[in-house]
Amino acid sequence: MTTYAAQTYDFKNADAAWHDLARDLTALLQGERDLVANAANTAALIWDALPGLNWAGFYLYKSGELVLGPFQGKPACVRIAIGKGVCGTAAARRSTVVVEDVHAFPGHIACDSASNSEIVVPLIKDGELLGVLDLDSPLHARFGAIEARGVEKLAKIFVDSLGS
Ligand code: SME
Repeated sequence: MTTYAAQTYDFKNADAAWHDLARDLTALLQGERDLVANAANTAALIWDALPGLNWAGFYLYKSGELVLGPFQGKPACVRIAIGKGVCGTAAARRSTVVVEDVHAFPGHIACDSASNSEIVVPLIKDGELLGVLDLDSPLHARFGAIEARGVEKLAKIFVDSLGS
């Protein structure tokens, strides 16, 4: 495996930082297809790279619901029904959900009272829902269009790493 050297990404130059982060995730996952291992390393890299997070990780789709997967941050709720909370909404819609203020999102599931904003990207492989990638922030409106595009790219790199 490529040795991962923690580095600081300068998000003042957002395009370059997201580009470098995508490059580093690709290198980190290269040659490994195990879902749990790659989800764990993806969560760890995002947690290390992105400022202003209080949670970063995965919920995996199992037997019709989302079940907690590898993550960084405080312990979280384990099971989320499809259609419930931000995670279940993104899974049901199969599209990214960006929430500027979680307190204004009907049905938001508060795992950590410090969270104020959130982004959830669904993970789709060959038309099948694998789960979601969820990032939370104590900052208000931490995630916008640039972050959505960046996190979607990271999610795709993770999905593609699992092979066919
Ligand atoms: N807030 C999420 C629940 C998961 S935690 O944020 C880790 C939701 O509403 O689905």
